[in-house]
Amino acid sequence: MSKKTAKPPAKKSSSKQPPKKPAKTQAKSAAKKKPKQPGRKGPTLAESADKFALYQRSVQSPTVDIEFFDAEFQKHRGRVPLSVREDFCGTALFSAEWCKSDARRTALGVDLDGPTLEWGRTNTFAAAPPDAVERVTLAQADVRDTSLPAVDLIVAMNFSYCIFKTREELRGYFAAARKNLVDDGVFALEVYGGTEAVVELSDERELRGGLTYVWEQEKFNPINHHTLCHITWKFRDGSQLYRAFTYDWRLWTLPELGELLREAGFSEVKFYFERVEADEDDDEYLTGTGEFVEHTEIENQEAWLGYVVALK
Ligand SMILES: C[S@@+](CC[C@H](N)C(=O)[O-])C[C@H]1O[C@@H](n2cnc3c(N)ncnc32)[C@H](O)[C@@H]1O
Repeated sequence: MSKKTAKPPAKKSSSKQPPKKPAKTQAKSAAKKKPKQPGRKGPTLAESADKFALYQRSVQSPTVDIEFFDAEFQKHRGRVPLSVREDFCGTALFSAEWCKSDARRTALGVDLDGPTLEWGRTNTFAAAPPDAVERVTLAQADVRDTSLPAVDLIVAMNFSYCIFKTREELRGYFAAARKNLVDDGVFALEVYGGTEAVVELSDERELRGGLTYVWEQEKFNPINHHTLCHITWKFRDGSQLYRAFTYDWRLWTLPELGELLREAGFSEVKFYFERVEADEDDDEYLTGTGEFVEHTEIENQEAWLGYVVALK
């Protein structure tokens, strides 16, 4: 099994700490920022940056996800999952990693946006072994399209299903996904929440190379749980990619997700949360271990990340 990539630390003190997007690196590995160089010629770091490459580096950790899905699928279904559909696949990083993880595996990445898929074909695929990439298919389609081929596992990572803002829309998506699963298929969603998921805030996390990832919750409406969030990157030369990505979401609660999955016909719904441990350097912090454990009850926390797993 490949080494698990740690997800970001959750702070256990009561000071302000937002829900975190999954990360490959810990905040503590940050390099010191250098001041902006006055009179510097040429493009700024922000001008020469690629937002999709930054996104993959900052919020995706597909090897951790795949290790979890593999183990859970085998536990519940007694066999290895081979075909996956990555919904809202964007640049198809998960799909490429899935096919790298086993020579028998295939992936179907589904996304509405042609240019984003094209970036994945040019860049994500170039970084993966050709024999793995040959087993990835990309479809420019709506994830609710039921004419897509049936697969063992469907995943919706990084909360993208939150674009569906009504119960009817979300139930419709879940029912369509269920229809496109084989008889013993599994559907998995990535979830986030906690008391700080429902407030307006901006949280910075330092990455290697003097790069800072900023997760901003600009608005949250308690009446309908609509939330407007952005990702910004700040660079060591003082430049920034301001609000490079914006998310206009409904933040669904776990009971709502469980109810809608059952209403869509799934037989069982399970909730998994990351096991955390005291940070080696600072016991004010809890560090994610990359290990996800099923729970029916959890402590009410400031920030949590998890998976919802639904069995057909
Ligand atoms: C936040 S990105 C997800 C990137 C990646 N899957 C991840 O794990 O981080 C959301 C993507 O969902 C796509 N999208 C939004 N609505 C969609 C729909 N109804 N069907 C398919 N793709 C959709 C957008 O084009 C965008 O590329």
